[in-house]
Amino acid sequence: MIPLAVPNLEGREREYLNRCIDTTFISSVGEYVNKLEELTAQKTDAKYGVATSAGTTGLHAALVGCGVEEGEIVIIPTFTFIATANAVAHCKAIPWLIDIDSSNWCMSAQNLEEELSRKVKMIDGKVIHKDSGRRVAAIMPVYTLGEIPDMEKIGEIARKYNLPLVADAAAAVGAEYKGIKIGKLADLTVLSFNGNKTVTAGGGGMVLGNKEELMKNIKHITTTARVTSEYDHDMVGYNYRMTNVQAAIGCAQMERMEKLVDRKRKIRSYYNKEFRKIEGISLFPENSNVRSACWFSGLVLDKGGIEIVRELCASLRVKGIESRSFWKPVHLQKPYMNSIKADSLERAEHLWDKIITLPCSTNISNSELEQVVNAVKEVIN
Ligand SMILES: Cc1ncc(COP(=O)(O)O)c(C=O)c1O
Repeated sequence: MIPLAVPNLEGREREYLNRCIDTTFISSVGEYVNKLEELTAQKTDAKYGVATSAGTTGLHAALVGCGVEEGEIVIIPTFTFIATANAVAHCKAIPWLIDIDSSNWCMSAQNLEEELSRKVKMIDGKVIHKDSGRRVAAIMPVYTLGEIPDMEKIGEIARKYNLPLVADAAAAVGAEYKGIKIGKLADLTVLSFNGNKTVTAGGGGMVLGNKEELMKNIKHITTTARVTSEYDHDMVGYNYRMTNVQAAIGCAQMERMEKLVDRKRKIRSYYNKEFRKIEGISLFPENSNVRSACWFSGLVLDKGGIEIVRELCASLRVKGIESRSFWKPVHLQKPYMNSIKADSLERAEHLWDKIITLPCSTNISNSELEQVVNAVKEVIN
């Protein structure tokens, strides 16, 4: 079976893990945690990084750090992995779901602007959602698959309403928008190092940012809000720390980030080149102003439906190829049916059940890629 996405552990992972054992630093402090924070910040052009136990916990800490409170609203795109919405729910806040831009599968800046201009009013400098009376507390765009939305426009909107911008960049390490690396595009930017990510730590995440005080606060929130080493704590904090063992793997991976992302980009361009020739298939996004991190690649059926996607995946499995459907929008998920929604979410609804993700591990061989394309051609025919 050619797997969908497995880690590439061809660097110094084993050496660094051995060092954790030799030094007994296997828990939540250690040289690799610090090194991973520095290396990730440097490679994404952020000033500071705070390592976390997962991308989801990083997102939660980022929202708490930006002052999101119970009963408030956080704006997110509906087309995302459920963890984006869960991070909002973990603040006891409510997601406001925005449609996507079909060209990059990310939050539509235009839809965001329309929704805000019609549905909020300003009271004492606060952004209040007219229907619910709730405060809008943050905007959280998602860098879907390592694509980047129109951050120029989204940044303008965030400044106009004075709302913090937290980017869910879970799979976007290595991406650039108009030549700007992801660490500079939002107030806070959150990565995931989950096992299926291009750069993994087995599990883990990272909050990136440029404001010293804010980042100190994020560190505080994620480390049980400890004030001194004498068990003195000044708020309800979280134990969201990354272990040195995770960070050891993360460092070995991050050292090779450029190479790993480059391979992902080559896989995307190979699939797109081959699938462009097949009728009935559309391609994963290609945008000239974004250097996508191309986390996953695959194809989009022109006419789909989840049943057809399932059938195709089953046929590919018979041919020894693992493939999968992709994110079901948040507004169609049981826990979030009653979220606040944009008037139309039709672009996300039209897209999601036509996507098939295909094998795209960074260590996949060219002949395996060819095998995948041939199998897809046979199955589609
Ligand atoms: C868009 C997005 N947000 C958040 C997450 C959550 O990251 P983690 O699994 O590290 O908690 C993921 C993970 O796949 C993701 O794709």
